Amino acid sequence: TYTRIFQDPLVIPTQLQPLTTYTNATTGETFEFFQITIDDFTQQVYPGRQPADLQGYNGQVPGPLIKTTVGRRSVVRFINNVAKPASIHLHGSPSRPVFDGWAEDTIATGQYKDYVYPNYSPRTLWYHDHAVHITAENVFHGQAGFYIVSDPAQEAALALPQGVYDIPLLIVDKIYRSNGKTLSPATEDDSYYGDVIHVNGVPWPFLNVEPRKYRFRLLDGSTSRSYKMSIETSSGAKVPMKVIATDAGYVENPVNTNTLILAIAERWEIVVDFSSYAGKNLTMKNARDFSRNEDYAQTNKIMQFRVGTTVSSTAGNGAVPSTLVDLNFPANTGTIDRHFKFERTNGEWRINGLGFADVANRILAKPNAGAVEVWELENSSGGWAHPIHIHLIDFKVLTRNGRGVEPYESSGFKDVVFLDENETVTVIARYHPWTGQYMFHCHNTVHEDQDMMAAFDVGNTKA
Ligand code: C2O
Ligand code: CU
Repeated sequence: TYTRIFQDPLVIPTQLQPLTTYTNATTGETFEFFQITIDDFTQQVYPGRQPADLQGYNGQVPGPLIKTTVGRRSVVRFINNVAKPASIHLHGSPSRPVFDGWAEDTIATGQYKDYVYPNYSPRTLWYHDHAVHITAENVFHGQAGFYIVSDPAQEAALALPQGVYDIPLLIVDKIYRSNGKTLSPATEDDSYYGDVIHVNGVPWPFLNVEPRKYRFRLLDGSTSRSYKMSIETSSGAKVPMKVIATDAGYVENPVNTNTLILAIAERWEIVVDFSSYAGKNLTMKNARDFSRNEDYAQTNKIMQFRVGTTVSSTAGNGAVPSTLVDLNFPANTGTIDRHFKFERTNGEWRINGLGFADVANRILAKPNAGAVEVWELENSSGGWAHPIHIHLIDFKVLTRNGRGVEPYESSGFKDVVFLDENETVTVIARYHPWTGQYMFHCHNTVHEDQDMMAAFDVGNTKA
């Protein structure tokens, strides 16, 4: 098995430049046009073996980094050059239904689709495949990338680490066959747990850092694995982390923590201060035996930080402000408007007993346009964990029966909530800004594909 640990440098995804920019003279809206092709390609992972078979955006895994600013619109053309359908979801974007990556609204081989994204608020998003019943294999092979929206005035005011000190980290586990090719999750029924942990496509990389503050944008892009992450010295002391943002952008007040649960599709942004570790190597670790993930010899390690001894810039190295934003959380109505059970029925993954393939019955909720609702999400499948994603909206986690709502989890808006074994959570959200049909589902993509996914329809008759 592959065991090159901390020998290869972290790769930071290259930024995609717009092909053209256009400002509408009447509305003043500025549109940036990007283009991405979906291709099969190979990349050497195992030295001396066959290159790994990948499939992704512009020949890169993860896909190219898209960066834009609040207020600009993006138009992204996805050209499908592979032999299976694709549908692209910009996870974290309140996109109109037609641009949201509805699982059946696929781009056939040889065709393209232009997606329009509004970029309403600053946050770390990711774009990934969402094609019906083949999402797991498509994302696994590399159809995933970062998309970052920021507000330049806000960034200047907060003065957090920026530029080379602001680094996205996409964590993914995979299994390789002895010939160097990947073992796909396509035929899995339960879950898929890899024995090789990658960050930005590189198995167990290292990153040279300066003894100063960094901002990391963490994303778990794994098929089924969630992580309980910490950064540790060689003697096992935990390095403090400051959580500054989650799925929907900044938290109100940064939260100090030593460990962070990274569930599939969640984004956590942290500031780490390496200034007291000059000359030391630190390891980003994963506590094993977490939520019945299958563990392997090296799945307790994620990546290494090699802290140097000189600081080349002190920009963004000041104190992290104690208030980052003022979030307008909806007032708790005190009622539970919907109840959903995430369960296993006759060996099939289901929500309230049904799956996305049940076309006639799969719309499980019809919130009024702009309504505030509390949804109770119950994990009734015993020992399995389910990270639940609701499209369109940002929610606040109100309650969690098991380990309590972590302070970092309730200080910001989210779009994924982790349902650990036997947990029930409640989340509150305003169902806006668009009307129409959206999906919600487990983001363990094996479960999502078969078929723990349903839909809700905003703005039609309440039912
Ligand atoms: Cu990140 Cu419905 O997906
Ligand atoms: Cu699940």
